[in-house]
Amino acid sequence: MTSSPTPTATTTPTAPAPPTAPAPPAPGATAPPGRHDLVVNVTGLRCRECGRTEDLGASHVCGWCFGPLEVAYDEEVVAARVSRDRIASGPSTLWRYGDLLPVLRDEPDDRIDLGAGFTPLRPAPRLAAHLGLRELWLKDDTRNPSGSFKDRVVTVALSAARALGIDTIACASTGNLANAVAAHAAAAGMPAYVFIPHDLERGKVVGSAVYGANVVAVDGTYDDVNRLCAEVADRRGWGFVNVNLRAFYAEGSKTIGFEIAEQLGWQLPDHVVGPLASGAMFTKIHRAFGDLQRHGLLDTAELPRMSGAQATGCSPIAEAFERGSLDVRPQRPDTIARSLAIGDPADGYYALQVAEQTGGAIGHVADAEVVAGIRLLARTEGLFAETAGGVTVANLVRFVEQGVVGRDERVVAVVSGNGYKTVEALDGTAGPTHRTTPSLTDFLGMLHD
Ligand SMILES: Cc1ncc(COP(=O)(O)O)c(C=O)c1O
Repeated sequence: MTSSPTPTATTTPTAPAPPTAPAPPAPGATAPPGRHDLVVNVTGLRCRECGRTEDLGASHVCGWCFGPLEVAYDEEVVAARVSRDRIASGPSTLWRYGDLLPVLRDEPDDRIDLGAGFTPLRPAPRLAAHLGLRELWLKDDTRNPSGSFKDRVVTVALSAARALGIDTIACASTGNLANAVAAHAAAAGMPAYVFIPHDLERGKVVGSAVYGANVVAVDGTYDDVNRLCAEVADRRGWGFVNVNLRAFYAEGSKTIGFEIAEQLGWQLPDHVVGPLASGAMFTKIHRAFGDLQRHGLLDTAELPRMSGAQATGCSPIAEAFERGSLDVRPQRPDTIARSLAIGDPADGYYALQVAEQTGGAIGHVADAEVVAGIRLLARTEGLFAETAGGVTVANLVRFVEQGVVGRDERVVAVVSGNGYKTVEALDGTAGPTHRTTPSLTDFLGMLHD
């Protein structure tokens, strides 16, 4: 179905103040008394390719080699502060891992927090039995404030944006990110522009517009939306969470990995299966396990195998994996898994590296299997996932059949979004199962038929 929401704002946002780099903290420095327990723990942005560091700011591409920029932490500060005890005494949100997330200023008011994260890690015995697995857990990210894991990346990116003095927030989205940005911006009193493909599911459009965001429906695919947003970011200086704030945004996904480890008693699973669109979440979950290991927070030495899930109608990363290549060839998406419909994935190359290095795989499944996956998860575990969850479960089914996921492994499947956002996917497959008049006799008679 198509929707054509129109922009609602009439004012022109003012340009953000130029970002200023904070003074580097003394190692182990603590926040002044009377403030929340924050301390600056980042030194700048580092290029993932050439390793050069730049000042903190709304910038995502290395000025030297055009590689992607990542947050560069002050490892001494982080090491001096982070501990299992500090994490355990933190809030029941992803900010319990605040020492491992970018803090740009000693300023508690920067934090824009709707309570994302620390979602349940649920045992899934009925689904495990169905699949013939010994031990299966579901990371239930349907429970986040706007119904997907995107609340994680947004709380981190918007908090950084506020510290950088950015006053207008934006994103290029396949739907869930738009919802998360709109919700967090509303709570922070920040103007928001969310850019989406014009033909997204109704739940995703309403789930952004309701928060008062400017919803910009673009005639094109997500990749067209993303290109437009890169141009707008250059022109307007807005903070696009997944464009010029991408370094901070991506850190939010690490918290899925932190939580899995903490919730398993600082052990790691053998295998993690999760969905891929840009590939950022998948890559960062893996990085999170490495962070915990480096800081001595784990009881296990071995990192999990990581396997990624795509829908056949948008499977550029899986296709490269099948070819045995790290070279992702862009595709034009055509799948009901709209949240994963990124044809030119920014982190595809890195996701392929992670799968390869950890002994995982990247698979893809047809749309009919996505629907079957949603229904299987709901029927066996009482968890209603959006299409990305269907993609994950359907790929898990295949991975078990193919022996990619071992039956004796301890497996975690990441269920990243809520099914009520994409009910269209179930049209024709999930309706009333019986029809009766309001008469007891008719009802009982119908049951005996
Ligand atoms: C529900 C859901 N799961 C997973 C993803 C994949 O995220 P990434 O782009 O980090 O691979 C998305 C992306 O939009 C999403 O909406």
